[in-house]
Amino acid sequence: MKKIALDGFDLAYDRRGSGSPLLLIHGFPFDHSIWMDVAPLLEGEFDLILPDLRGFGESSTVDKFYSTADMARDLVSLLDALGIGKTSLAGHSMGGYVALAFAKQYPERVHRLALVASQAAGDSLERKEVRYKTAAEAAEKGVRVVVEAMIGKLTASPGARSRIRPLMEEQTVTGVIGALKAMAEREDSSAFLASFNRPVFLIHGDADELIPIERALEIKAILPSAVLSALYGGGHMPMLEMPEETALALKGMA
Ligand code: MLT
Repeated sequence: MKKIALDGFDLAYDRRGSGSPLLLIHGFPFDHSIWMDVAPLLEGEFDLILPDLRGFGESSTVDKFYSTADMARDLVSLLDALGIGKTSLAGHSMGGYVALAFAKQYPERVHRLALVASQAAGDSLERKEVRYKTAAEAAEKGVRVVVEAMIGKLTASPGARSRIRPLMEEQTVTGVIGALKAMAEREDSSAFLASFNRPVFLIHGDADELIPIERALEIKAILPSAVLSALYGGGHMPMLEMPEETALALKGMA
């Protein structure tokens, strides 16, 4: 992967295809490689930029508190380094939180925005507490704690599950803890999204057990212009479970 140097750490990214820029932002706790089944289906139409968010994959870890807004600023620095002004963004789950933080800070740089198995809502108090508890357990026992807590809810597909388990296990404790805290402290973006004036796309499996499709329907209710692609039978990892359907929905952003 290529790398750019940011404020004391490196951000790794892959770039492929040609066309209008589309930043594909992975979720938690993964890296850019979750997009590798859909990327070949999109690279004829898009200039795909696939970062590893700070703390994941080949990007460096950052051992202090940071926010989803900081993670979004990393991506703006990446675009600046690549000479890209405006881009479309598709964020999976946590990647959607980062995409929303990007759109809030730099609306003029967003062409179109897609949330894949994600949500605009912030964490409830209970959810926040669980995140901090998980972070403490991971610090003590390692990333495996997070893998075991999440894996059953991510996908019912044995093939997808066998691919994501090793990917999750190879992430670092520092990166996992940093992201858990950033997710816990993120703002509710519903009001922002309701007034966002760029095209919004929602791609969501109706069998997602981690972030139920109701979260996407809530966005559709406050932003009727949002284009919803409901993936029947899809879980939380549609880019692995249903790459063709996911790519087709993303092509609507071209
Ligand atoms: C993700 O899949 O990116 C995260 O698990 C989402 C979350 O925990 O809110």
